[in-house]
Amino acid sequence: MIGGKSFTAVAINCAAKAGEWIKTKLGKHTSLSLKYSAQDLVTEVDKGAEKMIRNLIMIQFPHHSILGEEGVEPGPEASTQALQDMQDEEYLWIVDPVDGTTNFVHGFPFFSVSIALAHKGEVIVGVVYDPMRDELFVAEKGKGAYVHGQRMSVSEEGTLHEGLIATGFPASPENARLNMQSLQAIAPQVRNIRSGGSAALHMAYVAAGRLSGFWEYGLNAWDIAAGSLLIKESGGIVTDIAGEPYHLGVRHVAASNGKLHDSFISELKKSAAHS
Ligand code: IPD
Ligand code: CA
Ligand code: CA
Ligand code: CA
Repeated sequence: MIGGKSFTAVAINCAAKAGEWIKTKLGKHTSLSLKYSAQDLVTEVDKGAEKMIRNLIMIQFPHHSILGEEGVEPGPEASTQALQDMQDEEYLWIVDPVDGTTNFVHGFPFFSVSIALAHKGEVIVGVVYDPMRDELFVAEKGKGAYVHGQRMSVSEEGTLHEGLIATGFPASPENARLNMQSLQAIAPQVRNIRSGGSAALHMAYVAAGRLSGFWEYGLNAWDIAAGSLLIKESGGIVTDIAGEPYHLGVRHVAASNGKLHDSFISELKKSAAHS
């Protein structure tokens, strides 16, 4: 809170305003371009939503820094550099204006707005908004996580065998290969696999107890920073795929209800060792 303005209230306002606007644009985007690869899409809606969020944050907190996906050159090197340049800022907003652009472009109604605020590198606010279902997931460090104003808790499954686990399919060939190896190892051991196409929403679903776990290779801070706090504040665990604690630089992420995390990590490690 600075001067009476709550960080969380600003994050919620940004996500809600951008999400409402994005919803009105579904099926109506006019420009589609490729970024780093043929699977890496961007529309004027991604750019417009990011601009809207940046403006709303800057009005309230003009001295804060903002790392937004569409403000960074495409590709892993540029995003790593951008995070390195900014992660020590006192207050850093981390914004994914549309998480699930491919879904948005195809009219598959599963995408979200993801906004986190980090203080000296630690996420203290996380908001993920799903405009199609009007679901707002909110977490504040030390104060729990909520959906529809109700406190969230992770699910109870204690074994992979009982788990519903999500993943995403990365665009880069190397990460795609690693993910397929993990998929081959994990799919036969779990109740089932889901892949909805929005990492931020997958993380929110782990927090809400709708998924037991989620992993993906090659993500960026804007995909997972908000979700990481949602999960922690709901009693779950977020690490990298080797089981090391989550920080803003983690790209290969594994998140779960905590109860099956050790077996989850052990399978991910085994599958990575075969590469
Ligand atoms: C993507 C989504 C997708 C994941 C990709 C991300 P974007 O983000 O989170 O689920 O599989 O790796 O890049 O580009 O739609 O914001
Ligand atoms: Ca993108
Ligand atoms: Ca994203
Ligand atoms: Ca995006």
